Amino acid sequence: MDTPNERIEMKIAGRRSLTPEIAEFTLAPTAGGTLPGFTPGAHITVETPDGAMRRYSLMNDGVEPSEYVIAVKREPNSRGGSASMHDKAVEGATLSVEPPENDFELVDAPKYILIAGGIGVTPILSMARHLQKQGKPFEMVYCTRTAEDTAYLDEVKGFETATVHHDEGELDNFFDFWDLLENPGSEHVYCCGPAPLMEEIEALTGHWTEGRVHFEEFNAVDVVREDDEPFKVTLKESGREIEVPADRSILEALRDAGIETVSSCESGTCGTCKCRLVAGEPDHRDHVLMDEEKADHIMICVSRAKSGDLTLDL
Ligand code: FES
Repeated sequence: MDTPNERIEMKIAGRRSLTPEIAEFTLAPTAGGTLPGFTPGAHITVETPDGAMRRYSLMNDGVEPSEYVIAVKREPNSRGGSASMHDKAVEGATLSVEPPENDFELVDAPKYILIAGGIGVTPILSMARHLQKQGKPFEMVYCTRTAEDTAYLDEVKGFETATVHHDEGELDNFFDFWDLLENPGSEHVYCCGPAPLMEEIEALTGHWTEGRVHFEEFNAVDVVREDDEPFKVTLKESGREIEVPADRSILEALRDAGIETVSSCESGTCGTCKCRLVAGEPDHRDHVLMDEEKADHIMICVSRAKSGDLTLDL
């Protein structure tokens, strides 16, 4: 596993509800002063009050910032991540945060198409604010279920070239992106949202030049599923046996047991938590392992045992 980034201790300096399910948090360093800067599309990794590490896009201006602003949606079936942010991250509480990283960087382009779905608006809005400030042309489409679910609705409506579309959760009401994407020009497309939206955009941009369409994917997998079973993990070096409950990932169970772990996305997409698998039958749920690695490696933030127990080279 890689070395962890140095954490920053931060206090929740402000919190407000954007919709019944989405809250915005303003985090200030407990030590005061300025924070590491960042560019639009960047995220921080926050240790939530229940100990899960979660990535959240930064919403504020990243030049010499004195605070970080994030928005968090309470995900249905959340255990320890977004639910603990909503229930326990109250004003004045402290959180440990890894410094900003950016895997969704805006490249220099003559024009941009920004596409957001639901809480995926966070990096996209940060890009729109930046482009507006720079006087660079962009079109934005923001899809949500209803107006009531829509964070930053008035602000997005305020952009002259933005379209807000509510689909009421009906597939038939999906926004028709074809007109926007049919004839690729010199634009770059940035898309962040739920899997069906990203799959749709991927399908509609199959004829675009490689590298022109960018996706940001945070919650690519269900870390824990309804029918998951508990199992045991043996650590080869110490011989220690750790129980992994049905509602915790291997990574969380190790962390709960006081074992040092390294992670970033905790959604099977970044590769940070890769471990060598010594024995057992894994249920791979990540998006990073190559086929040839799957026999003897496992991403412990999302993957589990298919049956029986696992032994890890830890
Ligand atoms: S922490 Fe990113 S893949 Fe596991």
